[in-house]
Amino acid sequence: MPIVTLMPSGRFIEVPSGTLLFDAACRAGLPVASSCSAEAVCGKCVMKIQSGMEKLSAPTEHEKRLLLRDKREASERISCMVRLYGDCTVSTSYW
Ligand code: FES
Repeated sequence: MPIVTLMPSGRFIEVPSGTLLFDAACRAGLPVASSCSAEAVCGKCVMKIQSGMEKLSAPTEHEKRLLLRDKREASERISCMVRLYGDCTVSTSYW
């Protein structure tokens, strides 16, 4: 099962393969910004992927459009659209 490490706290959680990154952070007890209730609209749940990008689901065309719209960096992903298939380390600007 994938282990997600949430920085800068270093808190981590093990989740079933295929879990949404958004849900993993919530289960770890950290707040995740959102104004669309994880419906893949607002883009506020973006997270920086510090390691393990290759262990995540590939971005859909819809996620690519959101990342482009919000001028996000290549290391950022929309957490409510990302499924976990291996270990990764992520962060946000507000944790
Ligand atoms: S919570 Fe709105 S896009 Fe993820």
